Amino acid sequence: MNIQLGEDYEDMSRQTAEFIAAYVRRKPDAVLCFPAGDTPVGTFRRLIELSRERQVDFSRSKWVGLDEWAGMGRLDDGSCQGFMYDNLFTPLAILEENIFFFDACAPDLARECVRMDETVSRLGGIDLMFVGIGMNGHIGLNEPGTNIDSYSHVVELDSVTRTVGQKYFSREIKLEQGITLGMRHLMEAETALLAVSGSKKAGIVRQALEGPVSEKVPGSYLQKHRNSHVFLDREAASELDIILPGDTAVQ
Ligand code: PGA
Repeated sequence: MNIQLGEDYEDMSRQTAEFIAAYVRRKPDAVLCFPAGDTPVGTFRRLIELSRERQVDFSRSKWVGLDEWAGMGRLDDGSCQGFMYDNLFTPLAILEENIFFFDACAPDLARECVRMDETVSRLGGIDLMFVGIGMNGHIGLNEPGTNIDSYSHVVELDSVTRTVGQKYFSREIKLEQGITLGMRHLMEAETALLAVSGSKKAGIVRQALEGPVSEKVPGSYLQKHRNSHVFLDREAASELDIILPGDTAVQ
């Protein structure tokens, strides 16, 4: 695992965006999978700037959706798909034909998982998979207890996700199920990228990066990835034992 420390959220976001832009410059037709949520907002903002400055070109990249709340689609307040369109796909003018998302309103979600797995295979797998980590250690909606060999699956949401997930919605909502790419997609991705910020995540970052590799903390599977890159801000890194380059204050 390669871990990089940023001073704060903005710095961590800038580093994450630079890493992604460098990747896409090397491989303009890369298959990318990015998360919705609070963590990537700063990274997305910087990527949009880089694209407008013509420092990176996303027009040939392909985009695979990471996860979705069951029963929600692009136009639903708080949906992952809606978030990705508003914060990334529309500002980057990504063509519809290059976007591959779960249809979480499909009547048969198990079939939808098969369709998504086939789509990822047809695209030749994911090149760069960018994820955040939940307060419970989840990756996408791979909740604690998820096997490392899982592909796409329908999930009964963990109580932490049901509660924390309320922050994405303008009114209280019942969150019960989700649909997500699996941990195996992450393990098979050519490059895995995790970004985390804030002191509230320091404990789970420590468990994921320095604790035992365990299904109790799906984020810990990243330790076994052959090419994983982790971007932390100083607060998120504050409980780690390792001393990171450029760091004097963490210990
Ligand atoms: P967040 O979500 O970026 O909104 O904190 C992370 C996650 O739950 O995976």
